[in-house]
Amino acid sequence: MRSSPTSQALRRGLLALAATAALLPSAFAQSPIIIKFSHVVAIDTPKGKAAEFFAKRAAELTKGKVKVEVYPNSQLYKDKEEMEALQLGSVQMLAPSLSKFAPLGVKEFEAFDLPFIFDDYNDLHAVTQGPVGAKLLKKLESRGITGLAYWDNGFKVMSANKPLKAVEDYKGVKMRIQSSKVLDAQMRAVGALPQVLAFSETYQALQTGVVDGTENPPSNLYTQKMHEVQKHLTVTNHGYLGYAVVVNKKFWDGLPADIRAALTKAMAESTKVANDTAFQDNQDALAKVKASGKTAIYQPTLGERFLLKKAMFPVHKQMASRIGEETIQDIYKATNFDPNKM
Ligand code: LMR
Repeated sequence: MRSSPTSQALRRGLLALAATAALLPSAFAQSPIIIKFSHVVAIDTPKGKAAEFFAKRAAELTKGKVKVEVYPNSQLYKDKEEMEALQLGSVQMLAPSLSKFAPLGVKEFEAFDLPFIFDDYNDLHAVTQGPVGAKLLKKLESRGITGLAYWDNGFKVMSANKPLKAVEDYKGVKMRIQSSKVLDAQMRAVGALPQVLAFSETYQALQTGVVDGTENPPSNLYTQKMHEVQKHLTVTNHGYLGYAVVVNKKFWDGLPADIRAALTKAMAESTKVANDTAFQDNQDALAKVKASGKTAIYQPTLGERFLLKKAMFPVHKQMASRIGEETIQDIYKATNFDPNKM
C-alpha cells in the first residue's frame, strides 16, 4: 500500500527531527564555551591588557572552542556586584584587587593591604609566586571560587586637593578606600577619614567633593582621569594594589580537561603580560599625570616617608587577629622582613 502524500510529509518531518536530534551533541560541543570576564578598570592598564591578551590566547589555544568576552570599566558589574555574580555563575572570571576578598570571608587577603609590607616587586613576588600565595588562593575554594593567578599592578600614591607631605597633613582629609578594614585602619592611623566607595564611583566622588582624596597606583589614577580632579599627588608607595584572577569553581571543574589545560596555559602567558608591563605602566602614567600639568607631584623625602611608615606601621599589630597572625608571619618570612627592626 502506497502511503498518502500527507503521511510521507509527516515521515520526512520526523526523520528530519531525528537527524537534528542526532546532531545535537556534536553541535553543542562545537558551539564556543563562553567565559564572561568582568573587571572594573580601563583597558589600558596592566589588568585591562592582560585580560584582552587572555581572551586572544584562549581563543587561539582552544582553536575557537572558548570565547572570552571581556567587560572592562565596570561595564557589567561594579566591585561588590561582580563577586556576587561570580558566585552565582552570571560571570565566570574576574580579577578583583586583593583588597576585595575579605567581604567574602577570606580576611587573610587583607594582609596585602598592610602599609609598608612590601618594599618592592621582589618582595611581592616572593609571596605571590611562592607557597604563601598558593596557600592563600586555596582558601577561596570553600567560597566556590578557584584562584588561577596573581596579576601585578603597583604601589600606591596618595592624592588630594591639598599637599600631603607630613603625617599631620592627612588629618580630617576624607579619603576614598577599597572595601578593606586594613585600609580603613591605615587611613585612621594618620588621622584621615576613610570612606569605602566602588572604584566606578570614585572619580565623581572626588569631583563633587564627597571625598577629598584617594590612594591608587598611578595607572588607575591616570586612566580614570582622577588627576583632573586632584590637585596634589604624593609618591608615597606606602602600600600595594594587585589582583587575584579567579573563576567560578563549578564552571572550571566542569570544563573538559584539554580545554582547562589550554586555558591554564593562556593564563600563565597573560600573567606574564600583566607582570611584565605593570611597573612600566605605572611609571608612564605618573609621567602623563605630570605632563598634564593638572596635578602637582611630590616625591617625599626619606625622612617624611619614614615618619609616614612609623605612623602606619602599628596597623600590622592592630589587624593581626583579623587577618591571622600566621599569614602575616608567613609574609614576613617570605620577604625576609624583621618587624622588630622597624
Ligand atoms: C580600586 O577599587 O581602587 C581598585 O581595586 C580598582 C582595580 O581593580 O584596580
